[in-house]
Amino acid sequence: MIRVERISKTFGRVRALADVSLEVGRGERVAFVGSNGSGKTTLLRAMLGLVRVEGRVTVAGVDVAREPEIALRNVAYIPQIAPPADAPTREVVGAVAALRRTTVERVGVRAERLGLDLDACAATRFRDLSGGTKQKLLAALALAAETEVLLCDEPTANLDAHARAAFFEEVDARPAGHVLVLCSHRVEEVRQLVHRVVELKEGRVERDTPLDRLLETLRTFRVEVTLRPGGAAAEALLVGAGFGPSGPMRFGALCTQSEKVAIVARLVREHADAIADLSMSEVEDLRLERPAADAAADAPKLRLVKP
Ligand SMILES: Nc1ncnc2c1ncn2[C@@H]1O[C@H](COP(=O)(O)OP(=O)(O)OP(=O)(O)O)[C@@H](O)[C@H]1O
Ligand SMILES: [Mg+2]
Repeated sequence: MIRVERISKTFGRVRALADVSLEVGRGERVAFVGSNGSGKTTLLRAMLGLVRVEGRVTVAGVDVAREPEIALRNVAYIPQIAPPADAPTREVVGAVAALRRTTVERVGVRAERLGLDLDACAATRFRDLSGGTKQKLLAALALAAETEVLLCDEPTANLDAHARAAFFEEVDARPAGHVLVLCSHRVEEVRQLVHRVVELKEGRVERDTPLDRLLETLRTFRVEVTLRPGGAAAEALLVGAGFGPSGPMRFGALCTQSEKVAIVARLVREHADAIADLSMSEVEDLRLERPAADAAADAPKLRLVKP
């Protein structure tokens, strides 16, 4: 459905995309993840023909740079940053609805499901709406278009919990053959909405993995160990493995599945007598993040951390 062929983009001296190729088939739901500045938005904008790139992007076989009207007829987009429109919201909605061949009423229905009353903000200048309200409106406009392809860039970053859940439901309810491409830092978004994850790093595709496999490597646990007095050797092992004090004689750390198994197995094998208590709980509310540039060379490439 979407074919990205060897695209590259530089902004001055910044290489935003470096020889990226990928294909998104009919019915696929894909997330682009990666740290800030890794090229997610540029890749999405290139797929929409909004940035000029070396290489080629086609949607349903039509080149987005050469014939954007035809290629993008069936594509809707929720941008990361709302355009600073001065017009009243009513006019913006009317214009975009007409452009997208949908109606203001349909946009109103989608907006209401996301918790936004279109009438209440009709007279407000679009640029003066709150960040979350703008995002709800952009989502309502894109969803109302009912296109086969939906591209969204951090679509729930400014939404409250209720609106986020409603957005997930709306996207989930789209027909099975429809395509979703989502740029996201949010694990819950990735987990609920896609089944394939493309990780970008410095403008390149670092990995392209089915969601199941990625989640297995990223499942994260809070491990807490309480030691008996005199457990100095066990303490040294825990501190050496990155555990920090979390109470009297108590040490805790966030571990991936494999780290958890390794440390707990070693602790039990070598220092069973020193353990007064040991607990492990899976941590859900996390963000995908890359360690700092100066992190140890053997640090995990991508891990989940508390926001
Ligand atoms: N219009 C532009 N002019 C100059 N540099 C740009 C422009 N757009 C993007 N860049 C640069 O290209 C690189 C990739 O940016 P991009 O916005 O694609 O990253 P991203 O992965 O979407 O990041 P984030 O997670 O912060 O949204 C960055 O170094 C950014 O500064
Ligand atoms: Mg971005």
